[in-house]
Amino acid sequence: MTEAEAAAELERRAAEIARHNFLYHSEDDPKISDAEYDALVRRNSELEAEFPHLVREDSPNVQVGAAAAAHLSTVPHAAPMLSLENAFSEEEVRDFVGRIRRFLKLGPDAEVALTAEPKIDGLSCSLRYEKRKLVLGATRGDGTIGEDVTPNVRTIGDIPETLPPTAPEVFEVRGEVYMSKADFASLNQRQAEAGGKIFANPRNAAAGSLRQKDAAVTAARPLRFLAHGWGEASALPGETQGEVVRAIESWRFPVSADLKRFSTLEKMLDHYRTIEKGRADLPFDIDGVVYKVDRLDWQRRLGQVAKAPRWALAHKFPAEQAETTLKAIDIQIGRTGKLTPVARLEPVTVGGVVVTNATLHNADEIERLDIRVGDRVLLQRAGDVIPQIVGVVTRPEAHGALPVYVFPTSCEACGSAAVREDGEVDIRCTGGLVCPAQRVERLRHFVSRQALDIEGLGQKSIEEFFRDSLVHSPADIFRIKDHSDALAGREGWADISIRNLLDSIEARRQPPLDRLLFGLGIRHVGRVTGRDLARHFGTLEALRDTAARAASDENALADIVCIEGVGPVVAQAVVDFFAEPHNLEVVEDLLGEVSPPLFEVKTLESPVSGKTLVFTGSLETISRDEAKAQAEILGAKVAGSVSAKTDLVVAGPGAGSKLKKAAELGIEVIDEAAWNAIVAAAG
Ligand code: IVH
Repeated sequence: MTEAEAAAELERRAAEIARHNFLYHSEDDPKISDAEYDALVRRNSELEAEFPHLVREDSPNVQVGAAAAAHLSTVPHAAPMLSLENAFSEEEVRDFVGRIRRFLKLGPDAEVALTAEPKIDGLSCSLRYEKRKLVLGATRGDGTIGEDVTPNVRTIGDIPETLPPTAPEVFEVRGEVYMSKADFASLNQRQAEAGGKIFANPRNAAAGSLRQKDAAVTAARPLRFLAHGWGEASALPGETQGEVVRAIESWRFPVSADLKRFSTLEKMLDHYRTIEKGRADLPFDIDGVVYKVDRLDWQRRLGQVAKAPRWALAHKFPAEQAETTLKAIDIQIGRTGKLTPVARLEPVTVGGVVVTNATLHNADEIERLDIRVGDRVLLQRAGDVIPQIVGVVTRPEAHGALPVYVFPTSCEACGSAAVREDGEVDIRCTGGLVCPAQRVERLRHFVSRQALDIEGLGQKSIEEFFRDSLVHSPADIFRIKDHSDALAGREGWADISIRNLLDSIEARRQPPLDRLLFGLGIRHVGRVTGRDLARHFGTLEALRDTAARAASDENALADIVCIEGVGPVVAQAVVDFFAEPHNLEVVEDLLGEVSPPLFEVKTLESPVSGKTLVFTGSLETISRDEAKAQAEILGAKVAGSVSAKTDLVVAGPGAGSKLKKAAELGIEVIDEAAWNAIVAAAG
């Protein structure tokens, strides 16, 4: 890049970033995602680093352009309100600590203690107390001059009007004004009903609510406050970041429950990962973790560069939204014949993983999004959830020129009609057992991890074996060994992998009944229902015979309907399955190859027998699945959410809304160690 090019780009970037700053800070109405904004600033900073002599006076790194709203009066800050430098990788966090060491001339072994706490996605606010009385509330503004929102902050319940007698003469508490996710959702709902402004996200709702001319409007909005620092202070109630924040907490300000102090980088990065994992469970939005040097004398020595302190860093979470192009829409046929449209995408990184496909769910979803091949789309990935397409972002003219997507009316695999049953959203292939796609899917399901769990038999091999007529039904899998001639010398199959495959098949000749039932692919019979049925009937024969009688005998039907977890819909699906002669043949054939042992679940007597438990937060010594299995063995039920029916909550680090709910309802809460003790005591 030439200098002229760099100068021109810096000029463009400055204007572009200034415009987005204005939309975000002054209008509370951003037009791009935070991740896209960060990318713009980053690109600008890279250019400035490469051409330091071209740094402009209006560089976004020198000036934060956030003019005050016209309806609010301005007020200078006694101490500037700084922003934070961002890091997007562990590498950059290491560099940050390295820079601190060099700046302070510390040896490689000297301890640099840092605090770490979530970065709340709200708007910063400074609360000035003189003689322990609240005299001023101000937004950050451009960092030097803020907006006076004193009457507005007085309406926020989390903000005390006075400080205790022990507090200094002058003290500015700083923190975030924010709105919880739940309050945001209900506010938007109320706004929609009243025909008012709909907010893009909780941050904008908080900003829009605080920056009101009429404090009565603010009072009606559910705003909260979380303290994370301070501004001007006539004295400090501590010598470290942690101590001062604890003092502020003792003055009845909410502070983060996840604020911790670390003396090693590795532990601090672990904390980052824990916070990131628990992010979805938190009642409010966070977009990273903030690290701060704990010693205040070091903070003072480190000082600041441009508008950010050298002693603090915001470690941002990977972008959870990204734009990409829709290359094609493919249709997948499931084992029940359901046609599922899948978006094939230009690969893009979202939330730290590369995404190339996303489900489009069904025909209605395609219509709702009006998504067309060639569109630019916005992808979102929250936590461990599979990526979703949120919407189309193509320019309207370009979008209009693309052909509208037409959902197929026949099955691509067998040519049978694909139809939508009355009142259903799904479109299904009517080919049933003649449809090779459905048959392959059923076989895949049968061997899948949650079902028979036959290792070495993946999608490709099942398709291959099906095509070559080696495997057409579940029982055939157990007869593959009789086709050693057809197996030997297959492309991609070494002798050893054939032997391993045959071994893993043989190892499944006594499958647990619950897995076998799930594997049969009976409609509405998932893992849990498979287990409920297995527990009740003990053998496949008993279930089959009862189901057969149930077709004409109400008592037999009642025997299925009455099972805990099984209702009339599931019972009917079971009856229908065993009424189909072909299914009976498949089961008969299969029972010639496998013999599931009598299914029994032993439960132990324990203090939690018959109780309903909820696990929340991250568990450290066991997985969630194992914890659930333990609970079942102890005769307890595990529920997904806390309600009045919950008897006990087991909470690990990072527990958020569920823990709060439990406290509100007065439900007993124990930690993982106490849980392990209960398990151990039950033997
Ligand atoms: S410390 C001098 N701590 O993030 C350091 N800021 O991107 C000033 N923020 O303006 C900020 N959570 O509004 C700090 N735990 C936290 C924070 C936090 C959110 C906001 C704050 C700041 C912005 C910088």
